[in-house]
Amino acid sequence: MSAAAHGDGLDWIDVAPADDLVGGGHRVYEADGRFVAVYDVGGDLYAIEDVCPHDGNPLADGPVEGLEVICPRHGARFCLRTGAALCPPAYEPVQTFAVERRDGRLRIGIR
Ligand code: FES
Repeated sequence: MSAAAHGDGLDWIDVAPADDLVGGGHRVYEADGRFVAVYDVGGDLYAIEDVCPHDGNPLADGPVEGLEVICPRHGARFCLRTGAALCPPAYEPVQTFAVERRDGRLRIGIR
C-alpha cells in the first residue's frame, strides 16, 4: 500500500490493481487504518466506511439495491453516493470516500 497526493487535499491510498473490482460487486480494503467498502455499480465506484453508524456492524455484508446498501443487522439503508441514512434505525450518515481507478491502480482518497 502506498499513498500519493494529486493536489486535491486527499491522500490517495493505493489498495489494489484497478481490475480487482470490475463488472459489479464490492470488496473491502484497508486504507489508512480504516476498513473501506468499495462498490462498482454499473462501472461507477463508490466507497463507504465499512461500519454501520447505528451499532458498528460491517455494512459490506449487506445486500445492495441500486445505490443503497442495507445493513444486515437491523436493516438500515444508506446511500452509496452520499452516505445518507435513508431509514431507521440509523439516523447518522456513513462516511464516504473518494475512490478512483488511475494508472492501473485502485485508490481511495483519505482526507
Ligand atoms: S447495526 Fe446497522 S442498522 Fe443496526
